[in-house]
Amino acid sequence: MRRSFFCSHRTLFPRSPESYSPRGRMAPKTSIAEFRELVNKSNRILAVCGAGLSAASGLPTFRGAGGLWRNHEPTSLARPEAFADDPALVWLFYAWRKHMALRANPNRGHYALAKLAMKKDNFLCLTQNVDGLSVRAGHPDSKLRLLHGSILDLECFNKCGYIDRLNLNDPPCPALAAASEDYPPDQTMPLLDPNVPTPKIKVQDLPHCPECKTGLLRPVLCGLDDAMLKGIDDWIEQGPIDLMLEIGTSATVFPAAGYMHEAQNRGAVVAVVNPDPDSAGGLMPDDFFFQGSAAEVLPQLFEGVIGKTDENGDTAPN
Ligand code: OAD
Repeated sequence: MRRSFFCSHRTLFPRSPESYSPRGRMAPKTSIAEFRELVNKSNRILAVCGAGLSAASGLPTFRGAGGLWRNHEPTSLARPEAFADDPALVWLFYAWRKHMALRANPNRGHYALAKLAMKKDNFLCLTQNVDGLSVRAGHPDSKLRLLHGSILDLECFNKCGYIDRLNLNDPPCPALAAASEDYPPDQTMPLLDPNVPTPKIKVQDLPHCPECKTGLLRPVLCGLDDAMLKGIDDWIEQGPIDLMLEIGTSATVFPAAGYMHEAQNRGAVVAVVNPDPDSAGGLMPDDFFFQGSAAEVLPQLFEGVIGKTDENGDTAPN
Protein backbone atom coordinates (compact mmCIF):
# COMPACT_ATOMS: atom_id res chain seq x y z
CA MET A 1 0.00 0.00 0.00
CA ARG A 2 1.39 3.38 -0.98
CA ARG A 3 -0.01 4.87 2.25
CA SER A 4 2.93 3.34 4.07
CA PHE A 5 5.30 5.46 2.01
CA PHE A 6 4.51 8.42 4.30
CA CYS A 7 7.24 10.74 2.98
CA SER A 8 9.83 8.19 4.00
CA HIS A 9 13.32 7.75 2.69
CA ARG A 10 13.68 4.89 0.32
CA THR A 11 15.89 1.93 0.85
CA LEU A 12 15.79 0.77 -2.77
CA PHE A 13 18.24 1.47 -5.54
CA PRO A 14 17.65 4.83 -7.24
CA ARG A 15 16.31 2.91 -10.24
CA SER A 16 15.95 -0.79 -10.88
CA PRO A 17 19.20 -2.52 -9.94
CA GLU A 18 19.30 -4.23 -13.33
CA SER A 19 19.37 -0.88 -15.06
CA TYR A 20 22.30 0.41 -13.03
CA SER A 21 25.59 0.61 -14.81
CA PRO A 22 28.85 2.37 -13.97
CA ARG A 23 28.88 5.96 -15.17
CA GLY A 24 30.27 6.37 -18.68
CA ARG A 25 29.56 2.87 -19.96
CA MET A 26 25.93 3.48 -20.89
CA ALA A 27 25.72 7.26 -21.14
CA PRO A 28 22.25 8.77 -21.56
CA LYS A 29 21.43 11.08 -24.47
CA THR A 30 21.93 14.82 -24.19
CA SER A 31 20.60 16.09 -27.54
CA ILE A 32 18.02 18.85 -27.07
CA ALA A 33 16.84 18.48 -30.69
CA GLU A 34 16.20 14.77 -30.22
CA PHE A 35 14.44 15.39 -26.92
CA ARG A 36 12.18 18.05 -28.45
CA GLU A 37 11.01 15.49 -31.01
CA LEU A 38 10.23 13.09 -28.18
CA VAL A 39 8.23 15.73 -26.28
CA ASN A 40 6.32 16.58 -29.45
CA LYS A 41 5.20 13.04 -30.03
CA SER A 42 4.72 12.03 -26.38
CA ASN A 43 1.14 11.62 -25.24
CA ARG A 44 1.29 10.57 -21.56
CA ILE A 45 3.92 12.55 -19.67
CA LEU A 46 4.59 12.33 -15.94
CA ALA A 47 6.81 14.86 -14.16
CA VAL A 48 8.21 14.58 -10.64
CA CYS A 49 9.72 17.80 -9.28
CA GLY A 50 11.80 18.62 -6.25
CA ALA A 51 13.43 21.53 -4.48
CA GLY A 52 15.88 22.10 -7.36
CA LEU A 53 13.02 23.48 -9.48
CA SER A 54 12.69 26.38 -7.04
CA ALA A 55 16.44 26.83 -6.43
CA ALA A 56 16.69 29.54 -9.11
CA SER A 57 13.87 31.39 -7.30
CA GLY A 58 16.20 31.66 -4.30
CA LEU A 59 14.73 28.87 -2.18
CA PRO A 60 17.20 26.45 -0.58
CA THR A 61 17.21 22.73 -1.34
CA PHE A 62 17.13 20.13 1.45
CA ARG A 63 20.28 18.16 0.89
CA GLY A 64 23.81 19.24 0.08
CA ALA A 65 25.62 22.44 1.03
CA GLY A 66 23.54 24.80 3.17
CA GLY A 67 20.97 22.10 3.81
CA LEU A 68 20.99 22.46 7.61
CA TRP A 69 18.74 24.92 9.46
CA ARG A 70 20.35 26.01 12.73
CA ASN A 71 22.18 22.64 12.82
CA HIS A 72 18.89 20.78 12.39
CA GLU A 73 18.08 18.53 9.45
CA PRO A 74 15.07 20.17 7.72
CA THR A 75 13.72 16.68 7.05
CA SER A 76 13.65 15.98 10.82
CA LEU A 77 11.92 19.26 11.58
CA ALA A 78 9.21 18.33 9.06
CA ARG A 79 8.18 15.31 11.13
CA PRO A 80 5.06 15.54 13.33
CA GLU A 81 7.12 14.23 16.27
CA ALA A 82 9.42 17.26 16.04
CA PHE A 83 6.40 19.56 16.14
CA ALA A 84 5.01 17.76 19.17
CA ASP A 85 8.41 18.05 20.96
CA ASP A 86 9.15 21.71 20.27
CA PRO A 87 6.35 23.51 18.40
CA ALA A 88 7.97 26.95 18.84
CA LEU A 89 11.24 25.89 17.16
CA VAL A 90 9.42 24.09 14.34
CA TRP A 91 7.02 27.01 13.82
CA LEU A 92 10.04 29.35 13.48
CA PHE A 93 11.36 27.05 10.75
CA TYR A 94 7.99 26.93 8.97
CA ALA A 95 7.45 30.68 9.33
CA TRP A 96 10.89 31.33 7.82
CA ARG A 97 10.17 28.97 4.90
CA LYS A 98 6.76 30.57 4.38
CA HIS A 99 8.29 34.05 4.34
CA MET A 100 10.90 32.89 1.80
CA ALA A 101 8.24 31.25 -0.37
CA LEU A 102 6.00 34.33 -0.35
CA ARG A 103 8.94 36.60 -1.15
CA ALA A 104 10.12 34.37 -4.05
CA ASN A 105 8.76 34.42 -7.57
CA PRO A 106 8.22 31.53 -9.96
CA ASN A 107 11.15 31.11 -12.35
CA ARG A 108 11.22 30.21 -16.05
CA GLY A 109 11.26 26.52 -15.17
CA HIS A 110 7.92 26.77 -13.32
CA TYR A 111 6.42 28.73 -16.21
CA ALA A 112 7.71 26.28 -18.84
CA LEU A 113 6.19 23.33 -16.97
CA ALA A 114 2.89 25.19 -16.54
CA LYS A 115 2.79 25.95 -20.28
CA LEU A 116 3.58 22.35 -21.17
CA ALA A 117 0.75 21.24 -18.89
CA MET A 118 -1.64 23.55 -20.75
CA LYS A 119 -0.57 22.18 -24.13
CA LYS A 120 -0.53 18.47 -23.31
CA ASP A 121 -3.82 16.82 -22.37
CA ASN A 122 -2.26 13.80 -20.69
CA PHE A 123 0.34 15.54 -18.56
CA LEU A 124 0.56 15.11 -14.79
CA CYS A 125 3.06 16.92 -12.56
CA LEU A 126 3.79 15.64 -9.06
CA THR A 127 5.68 18.20 -7.02
CA GLN A 128 7.33 17.65 -3.67
CA ASN A 129 7.61 21.41 -3.25
CA VAL A 130 5.39 23.15 -0.72
CA ASP A 131 6.25 26.71 -1.82
CA GLY A 132 3.23 27.34 -4.06
CA LEU A 133 5.40 28.56 -6.96
CA SER A 134 3.98 26.11 -9.54
CA VAL A 135 0.45 27.28 -8.69
CA ARG A 136 1.54 30.92 -8.96
CA ALA A 137 3.10 30.15 -12.38
CA GLY A 138 -0.36 29.17 -13.58
CA HIS A 139 0.07 25.40 -13.62
CA PRO A 140 -3.47 24.04 -14.10
CA ASP A 141 -4.73 22.50 -10.83
CA SER A 142 -6.06 19.44 -12.66
CA LYS A 143 -2.52 18.59 -13.81
CA LEU A 144 -0.66 19.28 -10.56
CA ARG A 145 -0.49 17.23 -7.37
CA LEU A 146 1.12 18.67 -4.23
CA LEU A 147 2.63 15.47 -2.86
CA HIS A 148 3.89 17.08 0.35
CA GLY A 149 1.12 19.64 0.84
CA SER A 150 1.55 23.39 1.00
CA ILE A 151 3.29 25.72 3.43
CA LEU A 152 0.33 28.09 2.90
CA ASP A 153 -2.30 25.63 4.16
CA LEU A 154 -2.79 25.22 7.92
CA GLU A 155 -4.54 22.45 9.81
CA CYS A 156 -5.34 21.71 13.43
CA PHE A 157 -2.59 19.53 14.92
CA ASN A 158 -5.27 17.97 17.15
CA LYS A 159 -6.97 16.80 13.93
CA CYS A 160 -10.32 18.41 14.77
CA GLY A 161 -10.81 18.79 11.00
CA TYR A 162 -10.14 22.54 10.68
CA ILE A 163 -8.18 23.57 7.58
CA ASP A 164 -7.26 27.09 6.48
CA ARG A 165 -6.21 27.14 2.80
CA LEU A 166 -3.97 29.78 1.24
CA ASN A 167 -3.17 31.53 4.50
CA LEU A 168 -0.88 34.41 3.52
CA ASN A 169 -0.15 35.77 7.02
CA ASP A 170 3.53 36.68 7.18
CA PRO A 171 4.56 36.37 9.95
CA PRO A 172 1.94 33.78 10.88
CA CYS A 173 1.52 35.54 14.27
CA PRO A 174 3.35 38.38 16.08
CA ALA A 175 5.41 35.96 18.21
CA LEU A 176 7.04 34.59 15.02
CA ALA A 177 8.11 38.00 13.68
CA ALA A 178 11.82 37.05 13.86
CA ALA A 179 11.25 34.57 11.01
CA SER A 180 9.97 37.24 8.63
CA GLU A 181 12.77 39.77 8.91
CA ASP A 182 14.73 40.70 5.79
CA TYR A 183 18.45 41.34 5.98
CA PRO A 184 20.88 42.61 3.32
CA PRO A 185 22.65 39.74 1.48
CA ASP A 186 25.94 40.46 3.28
CA GLN A 187 24.38 39.96 6.74
CA THR A 188 23.33 36.67 8.34
CA MET A 189 19.80 36.66 9.64
CA PRO A 190 20.09 36.09 13.44
CA LEU A 191 17.50 33.29 13.24
CA LEU A 192 19.77 31.37 10.85
CA ASP A 193 22.86 31.72 13.05
CA PRO A 194 23.02 28.65 15.33
CA ASN A 195 25.21 30.66 17.74
CA VAL A 196 22.40 33.15 18.36
CA PRO A 197 19.80 31.71 20.78
CA THR A 198 16.34 31.23 19.27
CA PRO A 199 13.74 33.76 20.42
CA LYS A 200 11.84 32.55 23.48
CA ILE A 201 8.26 31.93 22.34
CA LYS A 202 5.46 30.69 24.58
CA VAL A 203 3.32 27.92 23.14
CA GLN A 204 0.17 29.93 23.90
CA ASP A 205 1.46 32.69 21.58
CA LEU A 206 1.69 30.32 18.56
CA PRO A 207 -1.20 30.09 16.04
CA HIS A 208 -4.11 28.14 17.55
CA CYS A 209 -7.10 26.45 15.94
CA PRO A 210 -10.06 28.88 15.87
CA GLU A 211 -12.45 25.91 15.69
CA CYS A 212 -11.60 23.62 18.63
CA LYS A 213 -9.57 26.38 20.35
CA THR A 214 -7.24 23.81 21.91
CA GLY A 215 -5.02 22.48 19.11
CA LEU A 216 -2.07 24.30 17.58
CA LEU A 217 -2.23 25.10 13.87
CA ARG A 218 0.49 23.54 11.74
CA PRO A 219 1.17 23.74 7.98
CA VAL A 220 -0.25 20.82 6.00
CA LEU A 221 3.02 19.15 5.13
CA CYS A 222 3.69 15.57 4.21
CA GLY A 223 0.25 14.38 5.27
CA LEU A 224 -0.30 12.25 2.22
CA ASP A 225 -3.88 12.44 1.10
CA ASP A 226 -5.49 9.08 0.25
CA ALA A 227 -7.75 10.51 -2.46
CA MET A 228 -4.81 12.27 -4.11
CA LEU A 229 -2.71 9.08 -4.03
CA LYS A 230 -5.58 7.06 -5.47
CA GLY A 231 -5.98 9.59 -8.28
CA ILE A 232 -2.27 9.36 -9.10
CA ASP A 233 -2.39 5.56 -9.09
CA ASP A 234 -5.41 5.65 -11.40
CA TRP A 235 -3.61 7.97 -13.81
CA ILE A 236 -0.51 5.76 -13.85
CA GLU A 237 -2.55 2.62 -14.39
CA GLN A 238 -4.39 4.06 -17.42
CA GLY A 239 -1.66 2.81 -19.75
CA PRO A 240 1.94 3.12 -20.88
CA ILE A 241 3.79 6.31 -20.02
CA ASP A 242 5.80 7.88 -22.84
CA LEU A 243 8.00 10.25 -20.90
CA MET A 244 9.03 10.68 -17.28
CA LEU A 245 10.58 14.02 -16.31
CA GLU A 246 12.67 14.01 -13.14
CA ILE A 247 13.33 17.65 -12.32
CA GLY A 248 15.49 19.03 -9.52
CA THR A 249 15.07 16.18 -7.09
CA SER A 250 17.49 13.89 -5.31
CA ALA A 251 14.78 11.21 -5.76
CA THR A 252 15.37 9.90 -2.27
CA VAL A 253 11.93 10.27 -0.69
CA PHE A 254 8.79 8.23 -1.16
CA PRO A 255 6.29 8.36 -2.70
CA ALA A 256 8.05 10.48 -5.38
CA ALA A 257 10.90 7.99 -5.80
CA GLY A 258 8.41 5.15 -6.24
CA TYR A 259 6.49 6.93 -9.02
CA MET A 260 9.66 7.30 -11.03
CA HIS A 261 10.25 3.60 -10.75
CA GLU A 262 6.65 2.85 -11.79
CA ALA A 263 6.89 5.09 -14.85
CA GLN A 264 10.01 3.25 -15.95
CA ASN A 265 8.19 -0.05 -15.56
CA ARG A 266 5.45 1.37 -17.81
CA GLY A 267 7.98 1.98 -20.57
CA ALA A 268 8.74 5.64 -19.97
CA VAL A 269 11.88 7.23 -21.34
CA VAL A 270 13.37 9.12 -18.40
CA ALA A 271 14.76 12.63 -18.67
CA VAL A 272 16.66 14.03 -15.69
CA VAL A 273 17.22 17.79 -15.34
CA ASN A 274 19.73 18.53 -12.60
CA PRO A 275 23.09 20.33 -12.28
CA ASP A 276 24.53 17.38 -10.37
CA PRO A 277 26.06 14.76 -12.72
CA ASP A 278 25.54 12.06 -10.10
CA SER A 279 21.78 12.38 -10.61
CA ALA A 280 22.26 10.69 -14.02
CA GLY A 281 23.41 7.45 -12.36
CA GLY A 282 21.34 4.53 -13.54
CA LEU A 283 19.98 6.12 -16.70
CA MET A 284 19.78 3.88 -19.77
CA PRO A 285 21.16 4.76 -23.22
CA ASP A 286 17.64 5.72 -24.43
CA ASP A 287 17.15 8.09 -21.49
CA PHE A 288 18.20 11.75 -21.38
CA PHE A 289 20.28 13.79 -18.98
CA PHE A 290 20.35 17.57 -19.10
CA GLN A 291 22.90 19.00 -16.72
CA GLY A 292 21.95 22.47 -15.56
CA SER A 293 19.42 24.59 -13.75
CA ALA A 294 15.77 23.73 -14.40
CA ALA A 295 15.10 27.45 -14.89
CA GLU A 296 17.47 27.51 -17.86
CA VAL A 297 17.01 24.04 -19.26
CA LEU A 298 13.23 23.47 -19.20
CA PRO A 299 12.29 26.43 -21.46
CA GLN A 300 14.78 25.12 -24.04
CA LEU A 301 13.56 21.53 -23.81
CA PHE A 302 9.88 22.41 -24.27
CA GLU A 303 10.36 25.20 -26.82
CA GLY A 304 9.02 23.09 -29.69
CA VAL A 305 5.67 22.75 -27.88
CA ILE A 306 5.34 25.98 -25.86
CA GLY A 307 7.38 28.49 -27.91
CA LYS A 308 10.08 30.74 -26.49
CA THR A 309 9.74 31.72 -22.81
CA ASP A 310 10.92 35.12 -21.59
CA GLU A 311 11.97 36.08 -18.03
CA ASN A 312 8.34 36.65 -17.00
CA GLY A 313 7.29 33.26 -18.25
CA ASP A 314 5.50 34.72 -21.28
CA THR A 315 5.81 32.64 -24.41
CA ALA A 316 5.92 33.58 -28.06
CA PRO A 317 5.06 30.86 -30.58
CA ASN A 318 7.86 29.72 -32.89
P1 OAD B 1 16.81 17.66 -2.31
O1 OAD B 1 17.42 18.80 -1.57
O2 OAD B 1 16.98 16.30 -1.76
O3 OAD B 1 17.39 17.63 -3.80
C1 OAD B 1 17.41 18.78 -4.60
C2 OAD B 1 17.97 18.40 -5.95
O4 OAD B 1 17.91 19.55 -6.78
C3 OAD B 1 19.42 17.93 -5.93
O5 OAD B 1 19.54 16.75 -6.72
C4 OAD B 1 20.18 19.09 -6.58
O6 OAD B 1 21.33 18.65 -7.30
C5 OAD B 1 19.12 19.64 -7.51
N1 OAD B 1 19.27 21.05 -7.88
C6 OAD B 1 19.89 22.06 -7.22
N2 OAD B 1 19.78 23.22 -7.90
C7 OAD B 1 19.04 22.95 -9.01
C8 OAD B 1 18.59 23.74 -10.10
N3 OAD B 1 18.84 25.05 -10.19
N4 OAD B 1 17.86 23.12 -11.08
C9 OAD B 1 17.59 21.79 -10.99
N5 OAD B 1 18.02 21.00 -9.99
C10 OAD B 1 18.74 21.58 -9.01
O7 OAD B 1 15.26 18.03 -2.53
P2 OAD B 1 14.05 17.06 -2.90
O8 OAD B 1 14.46 15.97 -3.81
O9 OAD B 1 12.94 17.95 -3.30
O10 OAD B 1 10.10 16.71 2.15
O11 OAD B 1 13.72 16.45 -1.48
C11 OAD B 1 12.56 15.66 -1.35
C12 OAD B 1 11.92 15.88 0.00
O12 OAD B 1 12.90 15.71 1.02
C13 OAD B 1 11.41 17.29 0.24
O13 OAD B 1 10.16 17.55 -0.36
C14 OAD B 1 11.31 17.33 1.74
C15 OAD B 1 12.50 16.48 2.17
O14 OAD B 1 12.17 15.53 3.15
C16 OAD B 1 9.45 17.24 3.22
O15 OAD B 1 9.86 18.21 3.84
C17 OAD B 1 8.18 16.59 3.56
